[in-house]
Amino acid sequence: MSKIQSVRGTKDIYSSVMRSYNHIINEARLVAELFGYEEASFPIFEKAEVFSRPLGVASDVVSKETYTFEDRGGEKITLRPEGTAGVIRSIISEGKINDLPLRLFYSGPMFRYERPQKGRLRQFFQIGIESIGNHGPLEDAEVISCGARLLKRLGFQRDCVLNINSLGDAESRALYRKSLVDYFSKNLEKLSKLSQSRLSLNPLRILDSKEPQDEEVIFKAPLFSSYLNNLSIDHFEKVKSFLDSSGIEYSHNEKLVRGLDYYSHTTFEFITTRLGSQGTVLGGGRYDGLSEMLGGPSIPAVGFAAGVDRLVMLTANLEENSTILSILPVEEENFEYCYNLLNIFRENDIKCEIFEGGNLSKNLKKISKKNRKLVIIVGDEEIQNKQVILKDLSTGEQIKIQETDILEKINV
Ligand code: HAM
Repeated sequence: MSKIQSVRGTKDIYSSVMRSYNHIINEARLVAELFGYEEASFPIFEKAEVFSRPLGVASDVVSKETYTFEDRGGEKITLRPEGTAGVIRSIISEGKINDLPLRLFYSGPMFRYERPQKGRLRQFFQIGIESIGNHGPLEDAEVISCGARLLKRLGFQRDCVLNINSLGDAESRALYRKSLVDYFSKNLEKLSKLSQSRLSLNPLRILDSKEPQDEEVIFKAPLFSSYLNNLSIDHFEKVKSFLDSSGIEYSHNEKLVRGLDYYSHTTFEFITTRLGSQGTVLGGGRYDGLSEMLGGPSIPAVGFAAGVDRLVMLTANLEENSTILSILPVEEENFEYCYNLLNIFRENDIKCEIFEGGNLSKNLKKISKKNRKLVIIVGDEEIQNKQVILKDLSTGEQIKIQETDILEKINV
């Protein structure tokens, strides 16, 4: 029978790479706690409307990238392409509105049917924070600081630049949208087919176009900042001033609109040049209108998500000597003795595993390849003398120790 391959855009993760994933998720959890966030977990699939309503039917994510299917009960389901909409669905449906403000941290897999390439997967991992119930600009700056702190802690501070922008409130966006539609309509024939198709549904996304043909038209497009009303300008100025006082450097990028439709006011992205075209490692912003799009009351909220797979690509492999003790019986007759040792170790919280007998040196090579440091070798002679051999694979040294001293001598 033919071999079954993994699905395109998915990844199997082992040992040292898995350690890097866990390292990043653990660091993110710690930093989130520093900023007052509590961990929560949400379903990997939701009713399709949870994403189609707020992300916009015309957005790339919903129109082309969701894994949407009918389940066996005829319910239309979507595998989550991102975490934010599900969090707000939960706040509304679980009656958490009375507990606001809430600061929530989450991590887990997301699914987007995108064209796979370096740094772009169909199943990818995110860590995210959502601060729900705080409307002021201080909270936007806090969320950005949390992202900056995480990248600093991971050692990527110098690799990443922070871009920020303001998409203003609903009134400012409506004005800006109108001016953009007027401008792009006048230049329609100069735009790529993709951007032309976006004009009526989602003109802001044209600003985000990567098509070389669109470059010049976009360059001359009206700027968002000319359409922000006083309230929106004031909000953005305060965010910038909080960032200044935290010593966080940023560039104001007026073309930063982000791919999801639910944003208002502040949007931001941390971008690295080390990953080629998929260089955005962390992105987010304010999304005050999302709750209403999901049938809830008006709730101010701001957050971000970071792509763990991309952060792992920036991380050197965490090769470390494993703390798992390997037990290697020389012959099958020594198994029972070794089995008893295993039980004693586990009673004493020592992580251990057994290797089935066979060629001793081949087995030692296999153990060494797994980055194990310590091996206990037991043959007939050792059992007779009530001893075991303890071998340190990192130095090659080995000593004999008495059965009664094992627990004391083993330091893993
Ligand atoms: P997003 O910009 O769509 O925002 O995704 C956040 C991060 O997830 C990206 O910056 C990138 O690092 C990573 N990412 C996205 N798509 C892929 C992919 N196909 N393969 C690998 N990594 C990927 C959101 O998801 C929003 N929910 C963020 C947010 C939270 N806004 C407010 N709160």
